[in-house]
Amino acid sequence: MGPILLTLVLHSAIPALLAHAPLRVLGIEGQPVFLKVNVPPDFLVRDALWRFLTPAEELVAISFKGTAQNVYQSRFYGRSRLHTNFSLEISPAALGDSGIFSALLVNTTGEIEKQIFHLEVYDVVSTPTIHVFGEESNPNRKSGSCEFFLACAASRGTNVTYSWAGPGGETLAGENHSALENGQVLRAKLDLSEKMASNYTCTVTNAVSAKSVSIEVQEQCQRQSGKQISYVVAANEPFPA
Ligand SMILES: *[C@@H]1O[C@H](CO)[C@@H](O)[C@H](O)[C@H]1NC(C)=O
Ligand SMILES: *[C@@H]1O[C@H](CO)[C@@H](O)[C@H](O)[C@H]1NC(C)=O
Ligand SMILES: *[C@@H]1O[C@H](CO)[C@@H](O)[C@H](O)[C@H]1NC(C)=O
Repeated sequence: MGPILLTLVLHSAIPALLAHAPLRVLGIEGQPVFLKVNVPPDFLVRDALWRFLTPAEELVAISFKGTAQNVYQSRFYGRSRLHTNFSLEISPAALGDSGIFSALLVNTTGEIEKQIFHLEVYDVVSTPTIHVFGEESNPNRKSGSCEFFLACAASRGTNVTYSWAGPGGETLAGENHSALENGQVLRAKLDLSEKMASNYTCTVTNAVSAKSVSIEVQEQCQRQSGKQISYVVAANEPFPA
C-alpha cells in the first residue's frame, strides 16, 4: 500500500474509530447509574434500542415511534428506565451489570447512530484497618532497630489496590521498606535511635473511592525494645484470614 493511499485509509478510519470507541461509565453498587446517549444535532430519533452485549446479547429496552418499553427477559427488568431523551438508567446498579452496552438510534429518514458504553460497577471501599506483626526472630538484627510487618485490609470494596506512605506522605522504598502481597503488607525496619515521628498510612483505592488509615509505630517499638513484638496494635475489625 502506497503512502498516499495509507494516509487516506488512516484519515478516514480514525474518525470512525473515535466515534465508536466505548464510553467508559463508572457505577457504584446499589446506586443509580446513567448511560447518557448523545443525540447528534438535527438527528430526529424515531426508534431507540438498548442492548447489553456481554456475556450474552440481551435486549434491555426499546422505544419504537415514541413508545418506550422495557424488555421482559433482560437481567435489567424492573431496574432499568429508558428516559424520553433516550438515556438508559439502571437503578440500583449491581456488580454483575459490568459489561458492554450498545445504543442504536434510528431517525425518521432511517439513518442509524450507534453508541457503545463500557459500564464498570464497583463496591465502594470501607475504611481499612492496620495490624502490626513483629518480625520473626532474626539473629542478625541490630539492637536499636525495630522490624515489623503492617497488614492493611478493607472489609468492603471491589478491584482495590493498596498503597503505603510514610511520615509526611513520602512513598516508601529502599532497604528499609518493602511491599508484599500486592501491596497489602508492608515490611519495615525502623531505627529507634532516631526519635522521629513514624506514622504509616495505608490507602485503599478503587475506581470510585479511596479510604486511608494511619498508624503510629515508634512508641510501640520503644516499649518493646529488645523484645519481640508479637501483636502490637489491635484494630477494631478482625483481619480476614
Ligand atoms: C436525560 O434524562 C435523564 C433523566 O432525566 C438525565 O439524568 C440526563 O442528564 C438527561 N440528559 C442526557 C444527555 O442523557
Ligand atoms: C474487577 O475484578 C473482577 C474479578 O477479579 C474482574 O473480573 C473484573 O474484570 C475487574 N474489573 C475491572 C474493571 O478491572
Ligand atoms: C535504613 O535504616 C538504617 C538504620 O536502621 C539507616 O541508617 C538507613 O539510612 C536507612 N535507609 C534508608 C534508605 O532510609
